[in-house]
Amino acid sequence: MKKTVEFIQSMKQNGQKITMLTAYDYPTARILNDVEVDMILVGDSLGMVVLGYEDTRSITMADMLHHTRIVARGNTECLLIADLPYRSYETPEQAVENARLLRDAGADAVKLEGNKPEIVKAIIDDGIPLMGHVGLLPQTADRFRVYGRKRTEAKQIAADAGALEDAGCFATVVESVPDALGIKITNSLRIPTIGIGAGAGCDGQVLVIHDLLGLFDRFTPTFVKQYANLRKEIMRAVTHYKLEVQQGLFPDEDHSYH
Ligand code: KIV
Repeated sequence: MKKTVEFIQSMKQNGQKITMLTAYDYPTARILNDVEVDMILVGDSLGMVVLGYEDTRSITMADMLHHTRIVARGNTECLLIADLPYRSYETPEQAVENARLLRDAGADAVKLEGNKPEIVKAIIDDGIPLMGHVGLLPQTADRFRVYGRKRTEAKQIAADAGALEDAGCFATVVESVPDALGIKITNSLRIPTIGIGAGAGCDGQVLVIHDLLGLFDRFTPTFVKQYANLRKEIMRAVTHYKLEVQQGLFPDEDHSYH
């Protein structure tokens, strides 16, 4: 049965850790579905890890809709969340229109970066579940760094997370903050916190699947744990294929029709 927003929230109350991963294609969506991770994120990291853009700002609504539809086709069990891309939620009207498009493409909920009270209210009033995102905000950050080391910045991040909860977000991502701040925010909220570089104290964790699998080699943040090195493995297989074709060893008898 498909996981719901209420189910995800009950996991926090029951002390169960929540798992979220990104997916951008059908086979990956099917794997995450079959492993039964709790949430799948069609994030705007799509722009960097799949589409080859310099940053997450270049991604368009058309890109997001295309990949949300693909992932939705492979998912029946996980709560599916899609990012509202940069500049797609500048006014309440635009935010609602784009959130509806993502929902119609198959997202169960949408996510946006930062504390934007009017925008958040408009989406939630429209009946679309919304996930917040505080700490490092890749769409607008001038630098990828740890946020909230200074007391004033930490206070602001915690206040933003509280405001998102008060406005009705069902959960929030907390990105790239010291683990003590991750714990503080988690303990102060009723809604689940999903950490990425925010320590083990968050209610759940999210990673970009291309980082976890070792498929993205442009840079690797400290918080990424590579559970596999698929880039190396794919290069090995492709090199092997190339050599066998060049040497006339493929196709062999077993892979030919007679
Ligand atoms: O786009 C993304 O990958 C994200 C992260 C929080 C995982 O928003």
